[in-house]
Amino acid sequence: MSYRLHYSEVDSTQKVAIALAKEGAREGICVVSAAQTDGHGRNGQPWYSPAGGLYLSIVLHPDPMGLHLLSLTAGLEILSELSNVTRSDLKLKWPNDIVIDAEEAPGFQKLAGVLTDVVNPNGVLPVAVLGVGVNVRRVHFPPELASRVAFLEDLTEKPVAPDALEEPIIEAVLRASQRISSADERADIAAELNRILWGLGRPVSIEGIAGELAGVGASGEAILKTSTGQESFWTGELALRRK
Ligand code: BTN
Repeated sequence: MSYRLHYSEVDSTQKVAIALAKEGAREGICVVSAAQTDGHGRNGQPWYSPAGGLYLSIVLHPDPMGLHLLSLTAGLEILSELSNVTRSDLKLKWPNDIVIDAEEAPGFQKLAGVLTDVVNPNGVLPVAVLGVGVNVRRVHFPPELASRVAFLEDLTEKPVAPDALEEPIIEAVLRASQRISSADERADIAAELNRILWGLGRPVSIEGIAGELAGVGASGEAILKTSTGQESFWTGELALRRK
């Protein structure tokens, strides 16, 4: 059971939860908002957050040995929960997006995103805030974003309310935090990721390096087969290359 703070609107649940984490909030404290006015994703990119989506951030005290796998494992567990409500083939786009395949560029539509901020990067025991955004209801998005997002409502037979997803998504994130603390579990995670990885075997680039996506390694790194061998990436933006 996690302790939850609910808002009808905040600038960003991530900002609110980071402030709580800095004040010493314990694992599982969760900030949920029906809408955000300044939601953001990785690299400060805006995360458009009108009412109709699920937006939450959870304070975690993850095992330092597994911290590098936290975002990916949360993505894996969230994808598994979302797969319980849709028959669509959801994929995990390294490092932190849950997507469906799309014909048009960029080759996917984004259903959900995961953002992890480590609040005390120099601390011995890490404190992290893990934010999750899910596009649930088909609501109006600016035209430049509309073709790049997927809405859960379009992928299910019955309507889904953002509130109904809150519990399973929080449980998924807490489960991820538990899983990464076990060496046995950590050994299984890469294999699970490779079963649901978006772009596997396709021509892609990461940070301008072109190759074929060979998979995710044991440390959560993306592996590209390039013309000169294999290259591993721990950060970066994965993009499809058109042949
Ligand atoms: C990404 O795709 O780069 C991650 C997106 C994460 C968005 C969520 S919504 C809840 C929380 N609050 C934020 O401002 N961001 C995260």
